[in-house]
Amino acid sequence: MSHQPRSIEESRIAQPIGTTLDRFIKNNQDQFAFASGELSQLLRDIALASKVVNREVNKAGLIDIMGAIGSQNMAGDQQQKLDVLANIRFTRALMKGGEACAIISEETESFVDLNNNGKYVIAIDPLDGSGNIDVNVSIGTIFSIYRRKSPVGRPIQTIDILQPGADQVAAGYVLYGSSTMLVYTTGHGVNGFTYEPTLGEYFLSHPNLRMPTEGKIFSVNEGGYFSFPEAVKKYLAYCKEQQYTGRYIGSLVADFHRNLLKGGIYIYPATAASPTGKLRLMYECNALALVAEQAGGKATNGTTRILEIQPENLHQRVAFYVGSPSMIDRAMQFNLG
Ligand code: AHG
Ligand code: MN
Ligand code: MN
Repeated sequence: MSHQPRSIEESRIAQPIGTTLDRFIKNNQDQFAFASGELSQLLRDIALASKVVNREVNKAGLIDIMGAIGSQNMAGDQQQKLDVLANIRFTRALMKGGEACAIISEETESFVDLNNNGKYVIAIDPLDGSGNIDVNVSIGTIFSIYRRKSPVGRPIQTIDILQPGADQVAAGYVLYGSSTMLVYTTGHGVNGFTYEPTLGEYFLSHPNLRMPTEGKIFSVNEGGYFSFPEAVKKYLAYCKEQQYTGRYIGSLVADFHRNLLKGGIYIYPATAASPTGKLRLMYECNALALVAEQAGGKATNGTTRILEIQPENLHQRVAFYVGSPSMIDRAMQFNLG
């Protein structure tokens, strides 16, 4: 019996709808070390807040929410309105269910002490790449989730807050780009979800993401070149001799995501302006380092694996080299430090 060719509309209806983020989280819950459902709920809360932020990001060109509000955050950056809004959205979402005992955020000097009965600590850069908001370039959110170490029900301790990246139980990012994507890991590989705005759902679009072993993209702000360490200058000369492609957006999430998919190396060394590096260990580098490693990549500060660095304070900065494993290995042969 022969089938009539389907119309485009019929074909569309016949297509499977795909796996939603909620379904995926539920199906994979038993992979979590502590399968109580609370970590699942935190991931859902982050996804929900990201949808709200996505809506606000998309409206940025339309209504008066762009531009600085005149205050500065702890790192001395001028806070943008969307930074503040995103921080509020994520903080509210994360405190709602009581799973979180503390939130570490780029936008607050100290951690936010939430609920002594919460089992999880979240570190977050609510809006990454905020300098790119008002020029309509991709921006992001970066998050890390830790399980607290001290007993539940008591005030949280420094050991709960200053945990090394290796102790993350989940981490990921949202990229507000040409599509909005949520990419995360719970330590069992990396999966990417693309937001379908008319349905208001994230769908699994990039299952089991793997970073190419080798790549030809190098991503660095060469404006600081004259104060880069000599080893970094030599490595950059090598990249150019190899005729690699230079790509730098200036939103860490976007630069990282491109290199994750295409293969490449992201470099932010120590500079004269930022002698220990610019990027923040606890809410920028650790999450991306875990995603990179879980996808087969590598992340280092030049001497030490990022995930093994013991944080000494919430807003600590580190040099950051992350990307395809062969490229990081080769860069390390230049004795980056
Ligand atoms: P944030 O907007 O959260 O302060 O982060 C900005 C970071 C990061 O997104 C980006 O990769 C980097 O700063 C860019 O720094 P340069 O402008 O020095 O290249
Ligand atoms: Mn940032
Ligand atoms: Mn930020």
